[in-house]
Amino acid sequence: MSDVMHSNKFQSIEVPNRFALAPMTRTSAEPDGTPNALMADHYEGYARGGFGLVITEGTYTDDKASQGYANQPGLIDDAQVAGWQTIVNRVHAAGSKIFVQLMHAGAQFQANRYTNQPVGPSEVMPKGAPLGFYGDQEAWQTPAAMTKADIHAAIDGFAKSATNAKAAGFDGIEIHGANGYLLNQFLSTHFNKRDDNYGGSLENRLRLVVEVVRAVRKAVGDNYPVGIRLSQGTVTDPDYQLPEGEAGFRRVVEAVRDAGADFVHTTDGDVNRPYFVEGKQSLASVAAAVDGIELIINGNIDETNYQDVANQFPDAILAVGKKALANPDFVQRLKDGKEIADIDFAMLQPKATITNELAWRRQNAA
Ligand SMILES: Cc1cc2nc3c(=O)[nH]c(=O)nc-3n(C[C@H](O)[C@H](O)[C@H](O)COP(=O)(O)O)c2cc1C
Repeated sequence: MSDVMHSNKFQSIEVPNRFALAPMTRTSAEPDGTPNALMADHYEGYARGGFGLVITEGTYTDDKASQGYANQPGLIDDAQVAGWQTIVNRVHAAGSKIFVQLMHAGAQFQANRYTNQPVGPSEVMPKGAPLGFYGDQEAWQTPAAMTKADIHAAIDGFAKSATNAKAAGFDGIEIHGANGYLLNQFLSTHFNKRDDNYGGSLENRLRLVVEVVRAVRKAVGDNYPVGIRLSQGTVTDPDYQLPEGEAGFRRVVEAVRDAGADFVHTTDGDVNRPYFVEGKQSLASVAAAVDGIELIINGNIDETNYQDVANQFPDAILAVGKKALANPDFVQRLKDGKEIADIDFAMLQPKATITNELAWRRQNAA
């Protein structure tokens, strides 16, 4: 039996247990992207609730097109660094570690204080409709296909915000390569119709991902945890599959490892969903078979299956999303044998803000 409650060495850091808070956007920063006291209370609450590792919401990386949502936090100026520093200190004081998730929205662009023009690999919009709980936009905008200069600027943004993350005291960095945001768009044959060396073959579609991982690694140096979140599906197209199947996904994991990533964080609707154009493996099991890279896994992990998942992936950190929203003290509750609530999505309505969650909690406590 694999012990999930004991401390776990994860790269150069010691995580108090094997539970992570999954990254969750809350659109609750100041309008200028500065993290605030509300967010500090919010993140500290998960550390106090027993999560050994807190992963922040997707945080934007430049003053160009990386921001995707109004009131999304950034990590690009002194005020934003100072805001995060407070949060980092509060999480550390509660005994947990904290990674920042660095994100470029690409074509999944609903609001941005620096530009009105989204960018992406090609002039292709996401499927479906914008996410109502992140903003009021009714339709996606057509992104501009990124020039080489745009690509270099995006890489530079990841590198500079990685330097800022280290300065703010974060214990590590998770690059957002999942869920249909920019790096995932380059990997995706839905979004990426380029005919230069960033499009076409898997090696070409991987190029930006690899360049970002390399640039972030270079910015923070060795012995500082850096990894990348990966999925096939997106927020509006959860069943998209890489045409290259299991072998293709294995190649992605190997390529990010060789570019300097210490870990990959796989995410899918269910951690055990067999999910490739061929074969029977899950994303997590394909990643787990690659040597020389650590693993965070996510997807429907709850009080009923966590021990099985932990046994199946004895070295992985288990990232929990919805069950954590419903139970910020999920880990403590497991330890104490207390009841675990299901999520009521009303807590994220009409917008997924922390203020709305607190109002929901007051109402439901009454
Ligand atoms: C409100 C909300 C916001 C989210 N924001 C992010 C995000 O910023 N970055 C990210 O990688 N995933 C984000 N996700 C996805 C979660 O990290 C997680 O992958 C998803 O909830 C599935 O895990 P679960 O079954 O444990 O909930 C978000 C999910 C929710 C419910």
